[in-house]
Amino acid sequence: MNVTVIGTGYVGLVTGACLADAGNTVFCLDLDEAKIKTLNEGRIPIFEPGLEPIVKRNREAGRLRFSTDVPASVAHAELQLIAVGTPPTEDGSADMQHVVAAARAVGRHMEGYKVVVTKSTVPVGTADKVKQAIIEEQKKRHRGSDFTVVSNPEFLKEGAAVEDFMRPDRIIIGSEDSRAIALLRQLYAPFQRNRERIIVMGVRSAELTKYAANSMLAARISFMNELANLAESIGADIEEVRRGIGSDPRIGYQFLYAGAGFGGSCFPKDVKALQRSAAEAGKPLRLMAAVEEVNEAQKHVLGHKIRERFADQLRGKCIALWGLAFKANTDDMREAPSLALIDDLTAAGATVRAYDPAAGREAKRWFEKSSQVEVVESAMEALEGADALAILTEWQEFRSPDFAAIKEILKTPAIFDGRNLYDPAALRAQGLEYYPIGRKQ
Ligand SMILES: NC(=O)c1ccc[n+]([C@@H]2O[C@H](COP(=O)([O-])OP(=O)(O)OC[C@H]3O[C@@H](n4cnc5c(N)ncnc54)[C@H](O)[C@@H]3O)[C@@H](O)[C@H]2O)c1
Repeated sequence: MNVTVIGTGYVGLVTGACLADAGNTVFCLDLDEAKIKTLNEGRIPIFEPGLEPIVKRNREAGRLRFSTDVPASVAHAELQLIAVGTPPTEDGSADMQHVVAAARAVGRHMEGYKVVVTKSTVPVGTADKVKQAIIEEQKKRHRGSDFTVVSNPEFLKEGAAVEDFMRPDRIIIGSEDSRAIALLRQLYAPFQRNRERIIVMGVRSAELTKYAANSMLAARISFMNELANLAESIGADIEEVRRGIGSDPRIGYQFLYAGAGFGGSCFPKDVKALQRSAAEAGKPLRLMAAVEEVNEAQKHVLGHKIRERFADQLRGKCIALWGLAFKANTDDMREAPSLALIDDLTAAGATVRAYDPAAGREAKRWFEKSSQVEVVESAMEALEGADALAILTEWQEFRSPDFAAIKEILKTPAIFDGRNLYDPAALRAQGLEYYPIGRKQ
């Protein structure tokens, strides 16, 4: 099939590459000329495990094309997948300008039937806005051809996006149009060979399902974080509690870790946007307000522990920081807890030597102008001249480091662990001070 993907970011690029890998001919559109140039030079603008070889082989096979040519992208396919960003606005609602602009572009250039599929995470009612935008553009041209708007929210996880796309848990299709549903069934058939993963529902339910999923996951994290802080102050251990409750199949072990708060490009903005939509509908979501409040506070817990350990004397101190990305296996630093910790440390007069296995390049751009933050090339290099170590991303290479070397290099043998990576007793036995989240020390 011919497919156009509008927006070539984390979602658009993975979607385009995986669809091409299944044999489709995919046109990836983006307005960012630098991004398209990078892709056309055979490089990948993001870090996503397994993505590069898929992009390479499908480009070479002529099934995957990157361009800024809007009319050509509309002409290329009946299926127009919108995967542009929906960042938060000042009031927390999702910024719909890119989605609407993408819809307008389709309306401006379309000849013949189109199925416009929203993969971006968008508030309930967006399909109507997309439809309206297309109709307005068609009216301006005094010509109209048939089209339908479908909601098909994306559930891939950064860091495992290719795997998630190739083997989805579910594919949500919000539509009542049998022709569009049939087309999407055909498109997704190669990704659900052992059993049907498609769930067809109303457009509004599909739009809400995406927010509901992310909000539920965010709520689990905030629940565990709040419980961790309680556990710590009453002599319990959140890791033991996690094992105790996770064994209940109604609860399960996944997404049950305490830590330094959730970040990333999705949870924070989606929790905000859902609250905003709910408030506008006169049905405020009190639970989600608490989830957000707990998370904001949690991002500062590690900074608080560090200040406390050094009796508020952080001026002139240097903290090594392992992990800048909001989670492992990505270079995405949007809303990462590392940013909150760096703010806390630098505001208190400390300097930071930071290392991340994938987000280094992104971090160098981020801290280009800062004289207090240095981004270095290895975990051990970050420790040089540092007073203590803080860990904020659960990268595999941080899980079993040389503790003797860490103790030797740090001026104070203290590790502040926002991911609970280590066994407190084992670290104590090695003569290290260990400050995890919600654990007995
Ligand atoms: N990142 C994730 O893990 C993830 C997972 C599921 C859903 N989502 C949702 O998918 C959407 C995209 O997220 P992302 O992380 O891929 O965003 P992103 O910022 O990485 O990429 C968006 C891309 O769209 C391009 N763009 C903007 N307006 C355009 C237009 N009019 N025409 C063509 N291109 C345009 C931008 O230049 C950018 O390259 C968001 O709504 C997000 O909430 C993201």
